[in-house]
Amino acid sequence: MERRDFVKNTALAAIGASIIAPLSSLAGPTVTHFDSKDLSPSALKDDYALHFMALGDWGRNGEYDQSQVAAQMGLWGASHPNNFVISVGDNFYPKGVVSEEDPLWHYSFENIYTAHSLQCDWYPVLGNHDWHSDVDAQIRYSKISRRWDMPARYYSKEVSLNKDADKEIKTPGAPKTKDKVLFVMMDTDPFLHEDKADYVEKQIAWLKDTLANASADVKWKIVIGHHPCYTVGPRINNYDTLTMRKTLPQIFADNKVDIYLSGHEHSLQHLTPDGFCHQFISGAGSELTKVTSGIPYSKFEASEHGFMYFSVDAKRLNVKAVSYNGAVLYETTLNK
Ligand SMILES: [Fe+2]
Repeated sequence: MERRDFVKNTALAAIGASIIAPLSSLAGPTVTHFDSKDLSPSALKDDYALHFMALGDWGRNGEYDQSQVAAQMGLWGASHPNNFVISVGDNFYPKGVVSEEDPLWHYSFENIYTAHSLQCDWYPVLGNHDWHSDVDAQIRYSKISRRWDMPARYYSKEVSLNKDADKEIKTPGAPKTKDKVLFVMMDTDPFLHEDKADYVEKQIAWLKDTLANASADVKWKIVIGHHPCYTVGPRINNYDTLTMRKTLPQIFADNKVDIYLSGHEHSLQHLTPDGFCHQFISGAGSELTKVTSGIPYSKFEASEHGFMYFSVDAKRLNVKAVSYNGAVLYETTLNK
């Protein structure tokens, strides 16, 4: 029942009830059916099949404008289609969580990202700060939370670009696309520690295998890892950035990766260095760090609180950098 009809029917029922109250009091209780459509905004759609937000470097008990960014994500999700949220790491400052019962789950996540529109799946990766306590507690929390969905320290997902999936179920024979997006979630902090060489070697083998064996229906390959290969922030030439750059670019080139999405730098960036895929950085979920303008391979850089919003179909991929005040700071569309 549509909301208008529900209100009308309820009003008529109330009038009728007042007239026949003596009779109705003899009958059983009235059952009112409240359709779930009445409780949620109407389905938000645009021309794209898949939408997600990307946020990084956020868990600071609401401080450093974390709460303001979270509020804007909630508003954005209420007025734009959105399927899930990707967290690009440094989920909990200063030193990760000690267990799946750590109060920081409440102070830095559940009680911050409270909007109805953010009660969707969250797919996280681990950052360097997350490694300071029990990293696997972030995996175990997936069994407690409806929305936190982290099956392993590194993992992958193939997500359908069939935006009419519901319609297909209701209408057998409706047009069906098999197009997909591959998301590869990495655990990059161990790359910076020589004593974790065996773990990294195993992860690199997995990365190559996952990218090379993606299904033929995959139209976009997006790799997510906390540490960027390129940045125009304070780590432009530091050990972290240069170390990531030793290994990943060749693997990405060999396997035609479209996007590497990171955090670690507390800003919003889109970089297109020669010989590398599109490097996006969405690490402005709370504290900010500076960016340098004028670097030739930078399409966009901003030291502003905010997040990124991706819209994807088989041939187009649109990215918006959204400020905590709702302003679209930058927008670009990649085409196949
Ligand atoms: Fe970091």
